[in-house]
Amino acid sequence: MKKDQVILGIETSCDETAAAIVINGCEIAANVVASQIESHKRFGGVVPEIASRHHVEQITIVLEEVLQQANMTMADIDAIAVTEGPGLVGALLIGVNAAKALAFAHNKPLVPVHHIAGHIYANRLVTELKFPLLALVVSGGHTELVYMKEQGHFEVIGETRDDAAGEAYDKVARVLHMPYPGGPHIDRLAHEGSPVIDLPRAWLEEGSYDFSFSGLKSAVINTVHNAQQRGQTIKPEDLAASFQDSVVEVLVTKTVKAAEEYRVKQVIVAGGVAANKGLRSALETAFSEIEEVDLVIPPLSLCTDNAAMIAAAGSVLFEKGVRADISLNANPGLDIEIFNA
Ligand code: KG4
Ligand code: ZN
Repeated sequence: MKKDQVILGIETSCDETAAAIVINGCEIAANVVASQIESHKRFGGVVPEIASRHHVEQITIVLEEVLQQANMTMADIDAIAVTEGPGLVGALLIGVNAAKALAFAHNKPLVPVHHIAGHIYANRLVTELKFPLLALVVSGGHTELVYMKEQGHFEVIGETRDDAAGEAYDKVARVLHMPYPGGPHIDRLAHEGSPVIDLPRAWLEEGSYDFSFSGLKSAVINTVHNAQQRGQTIKPEDLAASFQDSVVEVLVTKTVKAAEEYRVKQVIVAGGVAANKGLRSALETAFSEIEEVDLVIPPLSLCTDNAAMIAAAGSVLFEKGVRADISLNANPGLDIEIFNA
């Protein structure tokens, strides 16, 4: 019988300090996430210096906790997978240095992982991936359509030219005086209103799978300011519904078009905005009409940042022979396509 493959994953790219142990790339033995959201809330967004300081305080505790929960020691671990980038450089460095120290001290292979590859592989923790597949990655920092012809091979066919979808949600929430992160609040409010306010949809050039959300964000801000100047009131729930409609329509239309053009077997959704109820139901409706394509949306706990997803992606890269040595550095602008070789 083949021995189980046990990967320890570490993720510190933004505001969650996370460690997880995943067996054979798909079974979670332990998954620990220390969120810093409360510390950043009063600033209305993630403050990089505060994030780094929290990671330093939390990383050892989180690593001890994950081994304890899995009832394992470092001797049980086959490799250490860590987020190399993209993300906040000072935050990434804490995870990278912890991983390097562990790898060096315990003589374990070190596997560098792209954060988005992690979000995509979160889906492998709930279902078997079928290739070719298309991943819609929508988070606070990213909006991308990634085509995967096979395991561990990533091709970015579309990405945002300005704001990420989650970032647009957070900025619009701020205009409506809602706390950070604003996505869930706008989502809830959108279901109480109607999309009666006319807002733009950025389709970009014919055939492009790129996205742009800054024009929409500005349109929302202008709508609010113009109404204030005229002494009119706008129902926040209608504004939220109209904004959500615009974001969801563009995301779903481009995803469906790409899924058809690339003839994929599966469409998977990843990142924090995958928690959005409007997006989930619009995707479910659209793909219920396309029999050849399976739609996979991970449970909410695996949509937001965690280390199980890093270990799951790390498992595939480890099998592919991807390794880093002790010179590994955090890379805030890391390109996902370098893992294709
Ligand atoms: O993937 P994630 O946890 O962190 C990044 O890597 O960015 O995504 C966080 C983002 C935030 O912008 C948050 O507002 C958004 O995901 N988000 C949502 C919802 N839940 C979280 N956006 C829209 N609707 C939601 N229900
Ligand atoms: Zn993320």
